[in-house]
Amino acid sequence: MMSRLAIALVLGLLTGARAQLLLHNVTRPPCDAPDVKAAALVAQDYLNGQHTHGYKYALNQIDNIKILTKPDGSEIYLMEVDLLETTCHVLDPTPVANCTVRPKVVTAVEGDCDVVLRKVGGVMSVTAFKCKTEESTEDLCVGCASLLPLNDTAGLAMVSASLVTFNNRTGKESLFAIMEVGRMSTQVVSGGARYLAEYVIVETNCTADDSDDNCVPLTNAMAQRGFCQVAGVSSLHSIQCNIFAASSMMPIVDTNGTVPVPAPVVHVHAGNLPKVHGLRHHKLTALHDPDLSGLLSAESGESGESEESIVPVVPVVVVPVGTEAAPVFVVDPVVGTDAPVVSGVVKREAPDSPAIVSAPLVPVPVCPGKKIFF
Ligand SMILES: *[C@@H]1O[C@H](CO)[C@@H](O)[C@H](O)[C@H]1NC(C)=O
Ligand SMILES: *[C@@H]1O[C@H](CO)[C@@H](O)[C@H](O)[C@H]1NC(C)=O
Ligand SMILES: *[C@@H]1O[C@H](CO)[C@@H](O)[C@H](O)[C@H]1NC(C)=O
Ligand SMILES: *[C@@H]1O[C@H](CO)[C@@H](O)[C@H](O)[C@H]1NC(C)=O
Ligand SMILES: *[C@@H]1O[C@H](CO)[C@@H](O)[C@H](O)[C@H]1NC(C)=O
Ligand SMILES: *[C@@H]1O[C@H](CO)[C@@H](O)[C@H](O)[C@H]1NC(C)=O
Repeated sequence: MMSRLAIALVLGLLTGARAQLLLHNVTRPPCDAPDVKAAALVAQDYLNGQHTHGYKYALNQIDNIKILTKPDGSEIYLMEVDLLETTCHVLDPTPVANCTVRPKVVTAVEGDCDVVLRKVGGVMSVTAFKCKTEESTEDLCVGCASLLPLNDTAGLAMVSASLVTFNNRTGKESLFAIMEVGRMSTQVVSGGARYLAEYVIVETNCTADDSDDNCVPLTNAMAQRGFCQVAGVSSLHSIQCNIFAASSMMPIVDTNGTVPVPAPVVHVHAGNLPKVHGLRHHKLTALHDPDLSGLLSAESGESGESEESIVPVVPVVVVPVGTEAAPVFVVDPVVGTDAPVVSGVVKREAPDSPAIVSAPLVPVPVCPGKKIFF
């Protein structure tokens, strides 16, 4: 009797998360149930609030859901969600619901996340998550642009040259510096390689008349930032930038969560670039599990972009409604970067047969849920 109890205890200690599951009342609702969808959207917004580089991600599919009900009535949602990268930078005030998901033809980036949420008194909050980010492209895509590492020399040369073009042509008082290169790709066209890039710019303390080239990005509320799309080569390119007032944008937070990114001195006339890693896309924050909940699956996550892969809680940043600034500045229409919009709607034909069908009660698969995009 004693030894059997001892074995049970040891097993319980060994299996941790599994044991925790057994101790609670577990339900598995359909993945597309309204409250599961609501939880997934809370997770989506939270994950977007956590990563400080690259683009916002939109919910694509709920793969799995388990709800543990505790004796006190609170619930723990353990879910697995798939997200897709959009074209909206994390600093872009556009709500993620209005952002365009990148189709596979331009190389989509998918985030697979395990998320733990707690629901107390009807309020959901994320307590832990683990994400993996990977690229997904068409199997055969002749003439498609392919992603470049974000430190690619030729791509960055075009980016630098395009900033010089921008600063020379804006007619604006301030000069802008590059804050982050979000995406670069290349395409072979007749005449050689053509580059496509997207990057974020920020207003500096220098004006076009300054011969002093030691410019520092402005951090005050009035500082402007912009999202630029460029295409071409160093010597000939088109550039389009949408400029927003910083006050309408999210504050810049480092993964540390409290310390604003220190402003480096940049040499804007040379179109100098911030340091970048050699990856081809910006990842979602990889892991966040402050309480070591043991509820995230054991398979190892990937390492994040920052040195520190476990980040302390960053408060979710809420952008006040109605402050979205309209783009106030555009130079030259950009050519050739328009991504085809992909629709995820599948029309189903109504059955021809009469309505009365004696269907056997086969349990319908309820997970994974429907794909929203592709
Ligand atoms: C589990 O929860 C369901 C729904 O709340 C309830 O009907 C059921 O009795 C519970 N089972 C246990 C073992 O607590
Ligand atoms: C987002 O989309 C909704 C509905 O399509 C629209 O009413 C709203 O103005 C859009 N917001 C922005 C910032 O684009
Ligand atoms: C800036 O623009 C002017 C005219 O628009 C041009 O003459 C000059 O060469 C440009 N300078 C640079 C560095 O591109
Ligand atoms: C911008 O700020 C930096 C650092 O404070 C300073 O060295 C530089 O001279 C300033 N540039 C101008 C044009 O004011
Ligand atoms: C976060 O910032 C604080 C204050 O600057 C610092 O003491 C701490 O070491 C930082 N933590 C990490 C993980 O970088
Ligand atoms: C880009 O970064 C990777 C690793 O991060 C490095 O191995 C590679 O040499 C870098 N390439 C360039 C052109 O700097």
